Amino acid sequence: MADITVTEHLLLHQKKTPQATGQFTGLLYDLILSGKSISQRINKAGLLDILGGTGEVNVQGEDVQKMDSIANRIMIYRMERSGALCAMSSEEEADLIRVGPEFPRGDYILIFDPLDGSSNIDIDINVGTIFSILRRPAGETGEVRLEDVLQPGYQQVGAGYILYGPSTMLVLSTGDGVHGFTLDPGVGEFLLSHPNMKIPEKGSIYSINDGYYRYWDDATKDVVDWFRTTESKDGKPYTARYVGALVADFHRTLLRGGIYMYPAEKRKPDGKLRLMCEANPLAYLAEQAGGKASDGRGRILDKIPTKLHARTPLFIGSKEDVEKVEEIYARHEAKK
Ligand code: AHG
Ligand code: MN
Ligand code: MN
Repeated sequence: MADITVTEHLLLHQKKTPQATGQFTGLLYDLILSGKSISQRINKAGLLDILGGTGEVNVQGEDVQKMDSIANRIMIYRMERSGALCAMSSEEEADLIRVGPEFPRGDYILIFDPLDGSSNIDIDINVGTIFSILRRPAGETGEVRLEDVLQPGYQQVGAGYILYGPSTMLVLSTGDGVHGFTLDPGVGEFLLSHPNMKIPEKGSIYSINDGYYRYWDDATKDVVDWFRTTESKDGKPYTARYVGALVADFHRTLLRGGIYMYPAEKRKPDGKLRLMCEANPLAYLAEQAGGKASDGRGRILDKIPTKLHARTPLFIGSKEDVEKVEEIYARHEAKK
C-alpha cells in the first residue's frame, strides 16, 4: 500500500488538476527536497551545536532559534533556484523576496513559515515547515508588487506542511483532497501513507493555551468554557491537548478531529498566528479535508491580508466544533 511515491502521486495529479503544470510540480519537488534537508538537520540537531537561540529577534519580535535561521536559509536557497517562483515571503524575513534576475523566474508565489513551533526544538518535540502557494495575477510580468502577493487564502493553488515528528510527514493539498506521505529515511523518499485525509465532523479534543485565560474577553471565555463543560460526541468530557507547535496541534486535529484555538486577547488584539504563512495554508487543508477554519466571525480564507505579516485569531478543525465557536461569538455580538 505504501508503495506510491510522492513523485508518482504528483504526476497522476498533474493530469487531474488544471493548475498542476510542469512548473507547479517542479515547485513541489523542490519544496520536498528542502523539507528533506531540514529534516536531516533536525534529526541530528542535538549533535551539531544548532540548538538554542541566535541572539537575534525577528520581524515578529520573537527570539530567533538557530534552527529557524537554518531552515529559512535552506528554503530560500533551494526555492529561488526552482524556476517556478517570482516571489517568496518568509515568516523570518521582514520584506518580500523577489526572485531574479540572476535566477529563472516562474509564475508562482511561495509563502512559508520555515520552522513552526521552534521554541520546541531544544526539547526534541515536533516542529514543522508550513507553506502556501499562490499564483501571480494573470498578465503581470515586471517586478512583483506587494499587492500581487496580498491575496486572500481562497486563491491558494496549493498548501501543506512537513512535520518533523517521530516520522517526517508531508501533508499536501493541491485542491484535490488532502494526502499524507511519510518519509522512508532508508530510501529518502516520501511514500503515500494517508490518502484522502478527512477531519471528523465533530471531535472530542480542544486545544488552546489556557494560561492566557485572564487576557481573554467574555466571549472567548464563554467559548472555552463551553468546551470545558459540555459533553463531546462520545458522551464524555472534551479532552485538552496543547503541544504549542501549531503544525503539530493541527496535525492531531486533522487526524483525530476537535478544535485548535488561538484567539485574540488583551495583549494581542489580532491573536498571534500569521494569516499568510500559518492560518491560510492550514485553513486550506482543513477545508479540503471537510473541516472549517474561522477567525471566530468568518472564514479565514476570505480575509484580505493588509500586510505580509498580518495576524489573525484562528479556530480550526472539525466543522461542528468551529461552528459552535462562531455561534457563541455571534450571540455575544448580538448582545452589544
Ligand atoms: P513560530 O515558532 O513559527 O514562531 O510559531 C509559534 C506559534 C505556533 O507554532 C504555536 O501554536 C504558538 O506559537 C504557541 O504560542 P503560545 O506560546 O503563545 O501558546
Ligand atoms: Mn509558526
Ligand atoms: Mn517559525
